[in-house]
Amino acid sequence: MKAIRLYAEPPSWSMSRRTAVQATAAFATAQVAGCAAPGSPTGPANSPAREEPRAQVMVPLQMRVNGQTHDMVVDARTSVLDALRENLNLKGTKKGCDHGQCGACTVLIEGRRTNVCLTLAVMHDGLSITTIEGLSSGEQLHPMQAAFLKHDGFQCGYCTPG
Ligand code: FES
Repeated sequence: MKAIRLYAEPPSWSMSRRTAVQATAAFATAQVAGCAAPGSPTGPANSPAREEPRAQVMVPLQMRVNGQTHDMVVDARTSVLDALRENLNLKGTKKGCDHGQCGACTVLIEGRRTNVCLTLAVMHDGLSITTIEGLSSGEQLHPMQAAFLKHDGFQCGYCTPG
């Protein structure tokens, strides 16, 4: 009876230490230079999408902002901050650092304080959002709004964080 071999033979490790060091150095140099060896998994021949701009993906969503429901179509990469400011023209929510560090973009999402410059709008489809504009009840200012007026708060993010 003939034996069936289930596994391939292990590779032959005949590479010298000098060759291995040279190959590693060449690969590292190519990575640092931004061009891996042609034909390698990270080489230019195998990553044509790297040079091309990404396609814009538009996503329909619904946001309930300050008690009003808004249907909109946004780029999937749109932050809640940009959706509020650019799509809904609610400029009370400020863009300070745009990196989650200053708090100028703070709103309440389902009652929880959130820095919305770091939050994608598509992640909050259908959720309730309260901005600074939505804190007042009728003509009566919310204590937060009154404090901004009284103390001339800039809400730049660093001197008057959210
Ligand atoms: Fe969002 Fe600064 S703009 S934390």
